[in-house]
Amino acid sequence: MNRARRMRRARADGEARGGGRASQLDVAIDSRSTLPLRTGRSMPVIGLGTWQLTDETADTVEEALRRGYRMIDTSGDYGTQPAVGEAARRSGVDRDEVFLVTKVEEDEDAYESTRRNLGELGGERADLVLIHRPPEEGAGVELWEGLIRAKEEGLATDIGVSNYTADQIDELVEATGETPVVNQVEWSPFGWSPQLLDYCRERGIVIQAYSPLTRARRLDDETLAEVAAAYGKTPAQVLLRWNLQMGIAPLPKANRWDHVAENLDVFDFEIGEAHMRELNEVNERFSVLGSLPYA
Ligand SMILES: NC(=O)c1ccc[n+]([C@@H]2O[C@H](COP(=O)([O-])OP(=O)(O)OC[C@H]3O[C@@H](n4cnc5c(N)ncnc54)[C@H](OP(=O)(O)O)[C@@H]3O)[C@@H](O)[C@H]2O)c1
Repeated sequence: MNRARRMRRARADGEARGGGRASQLDVAIDSRSTLPLRTGRSMPVIGLGTWQLTDETADTVEEALRRGYRMIDTSGDYGTQPAVGEAARRSGVDRDEVFLVTKVEEDEDAYESTRRNLGELGGERADLVLIHRPPEEGAGVELWEGLIRAKEEGLATDIGVSNYTADQIDELVEATGETPVVNQVEWSPFGWSPQLLDYCRERGIVIQAYSPLTRARRLDDETLAEVAAAYGKTPAQVLLRWNLQMGIAPLPKANRWDHVAENLDVFDFEIGEAHMRELNEVNERFSVLGSLPYA
């Protein structure tokens, strides 16, 4: 049986992905698959992170696009935007097929910052612009209004947030009527939140997982190693697949080209329900940054 048929049969069997939690993914996925956004548009299921992607950034991003990555995550403060833009142009991949994500800082004017980011990326629009993190006080309604303006003027096709709690998202929505399409947060089996997942699913907000590989700090975990061995995959691939099966878009970063390739080779296996439950249970709110920014 070929892979597509196997995947379809898994669905037909009614196997709930995510260890009993309904998944947003209702089609067999591959590297070109997308997740629906609440605006009616869609976003690739996996992307390349570029924080500290400092080794020949443009070459690495170009190689990633050639290999099939279709989403690149950057930010005004990563220093990688010019190289990301250059790689997107050099790759030969149609601009409409590349999904560029960037972010504005919480102490900036969000609209002006979006314009500056576009200048660095070298394009007329970004596919998704996020508030990088909430400001020290409040949820950042003014920032959100700046991004709404950027969206209305076509500088950002979609807008969202990063490092937001459910309450902070509620505050933005109550003040403006505009719901973020994405909340980008640190997310791995070792640190995630069933409550935030339910909140986002109920509102059609897609979670993007940053530091999905725990910056390689938990790759030697015993449970993870056992699950990986069961499928003949690496621990990193299992971490990414766990996210995909939850309907969450992981953003693994890799300087090494073998890592870039390995992290996209996650579409030829499916973690079974029992293994998903085992992975869900290793949650200890682990964070590479010290603590998870959400409840
Ligand atoms: N919104 C936010 O506040 C926020 C915060 C942090 C990160 N992010 C975004 O999320 C992206 C990913 O997060 P991250 O960079 O913190 O960490 P990560 O993706 O969890 O881990 C990156 C590390 O894992 C290594 N690695 C990659 N693939 C591997 C593999 N297959 N096997 C073993 N090791 C592997 C990389 O090594 P090599 O580089 O040597 O290949 C690198 O050291 C960032 O780049 C950024 O775009 C967003």
